[in-house]
Amino acid sequence: SSIKTRVQIAFPNLPQNSFEIQLETISNKLNFEYKTPTAIRIYNQFKKQNVFGDLKSEVEVAQKLASTEVQDNIIQKVELIDKGFLTIQLNDQFIEDQLNVLLNNGLKFPLKKKQKVVVDFSSPNIAKEMHVGHLRSTILGESICRILEFQGQEVVRVNHIGDWGTQFGMLINHLLEEYPDYQTNKPALKELEDLYKAAKKKFDCNEEFKVKSQQYVVKLQALDPVCVDAWKMICELSRQEYNKIYQRLNVKITEFGESYYNSILPEIVKECEDKGIVELDQGAKIIRVKGEKVPLMIVKKDGGYNYDTTDMAAAKTRILDWKCDRLLYLTDVGQYNHFKLIFEGAKLMGWHNPLETQMEHMGFGLVLGPDSKRFRSRTGEAVKFIDLLDEAKERALRQIQQRFQQNQQGKEFTTGTALSPEEFDFTAERIGIAAIKYYELKQNRISDYIFDYDKMLDPKGNTAVYLMYSYVRIVSILRKSGIKDFELFKRNNKFKITHQHERHLAAQLLRFIDVIQSVTDQLAINWLCDYIVEYLNLLLEQFCSLLLMYKNC
Ligand code: ARG
Repeated sequence: SSIKTRVQIAFPNLPQNSFEIQLETISNKLNFEYKTPTAIRIYNQFKKQNVFGDLKSEVEVAQKLASTEVQDNIIQKVELIDKGFLTIQLNDQFIEDQLNVLLNNGLKFPLKKKQKVVVDFSSPNIAKEMHVGHLRSTILGESICRILEFQGQEVVRVNHIGDWGTQFGMLINHLLEEYPDYQTNKPALKELEDLYKAAKKKFDCNEEFKVKSQQYVVKLQALDPVCVDAWKMICELSRQEYNKIYQRLNVKITEFGESYYNSILPEIVKECEDKGIVELDQGAKIIRVKGEKVPLMIVKKDGGYNYDTTDMAAAKTRILDWKCDRLLYLTDVGQYNHFKLIFEGAKLMGWHNPLETQMEHMGFGLVLGPDSKRFRSRTGEAVKFIDLLDEAKERALRQIQQRFQQNQQGKEFTTGTALSPEEFDFTAERIGIAAIKYYELKQNRISDYIFDYDKMLDPKGNTAVYLMYSYVRIVSILRKSGIKDFELFKRNNKFKITHQHERHLAAQLLRFIDVIQSVTDQLAINWLCDYIVEYLNLLLEQFCSLLLMYKNC
């Protein structure tokens, strides 16, 4: 609007509000400079209408705009660069005001409307150990929750674990055969995985076992006490395993697994039938969605419910009972179609109105091994989540021990006091986990990536190690300068720009709110990572010279 005013003052005959102003930031230049083709635009748009007097080109129009005197507290300088383009420099005062608003708000996000957001993430399957496929979901999920919470949204963190379904028939069957006294003599956590494998094997090659297992499924669904009891024990064992991981990653999540919807599945199916959208297909009940080849199957031909049924029930519960405004589902992109069907199904049922609720699949690519194939362990199985954490920690430990030794030999830094074994352990755990998390977060989420410990733990790359190191360096420079934190940038309790470096830092800081907004709009956490790296690098480049300047004045 500041530029519009300028145009109007320079050319009073121009029809008001008949043109748009377009601004581009000048890349790599964080000094509040913008470039605009306004002069060229209006010249071409209005040259036939005799509003420019004797000005005969876009360059002359641009010159006139640049030299027009305007009382303006946003724009400091307008300059002509080539071909009629203008650069615009913002006023220091304006930047200072913005910065003061931001900082006096305590970096609070200016939220227009509070939303209730359900984030469905992590969601492993009972009795199978959490593997690398759940790593992305868990890390991205926790992160997007924290960012949404920072924005001030109400976030419900949901663990939609696979704790119901046909696999429990064979599990219960096997458990009762092999551990008849399981109540007093519980199988160990480790045995659970083997239990699954052994049960699966028997199920596949032993017809009698298979039939009996199917009976157990029916019994479990009818809430037979013996089956329910065994089911509970199996779930509890898995839960302990997950919780260890959530604790180490500092992930907060609440379980609303598939079984949570068990009691409403029959009414959900009935509701769909009453709505007239259900078809019979070789004994199964399906819902066809326009434009999709594969239908939703809400009742299998044996009468059982499945993944589609629970997700339909979950969608209804979350939208109508929990009254949420936005629903995010985090799984790998392989489940894209499943969720598309669920979203369309919920629309057909009238539960989901896209004008009121957003349903989004926050899909992500695969984690690959060093050979660029699906990440598997040496034995060909999916790599276990917990092993990844342990290995990263182990490597981080070696890294810091090595550095510490070099320290002692005076090869690297001269500072660094001895760490106790506990401190080494603690530090390695923090670094290892941060390395994995950050490596995940900085990726474009749709792409696959190679799980590479060396890259994750590289102290010089765009890694958590580098970020933490930079942060510590900045804090230590600040401490050694003897000046207490950012109080020093304030004069009379107001931020005041006196140096070009300060303009740069201010520019980067002022992008913060926009960055957060686009991260939650586009669900692209990597943009926040980029922002942080740019900010830290800028600080490292300019901080020392700024501090020197302050010390001298
Ligand atoms: N348990 C599923 C899996 O491991 C993920 C569940 C995702 N959430 C959902 N509402 N379907 O693949």
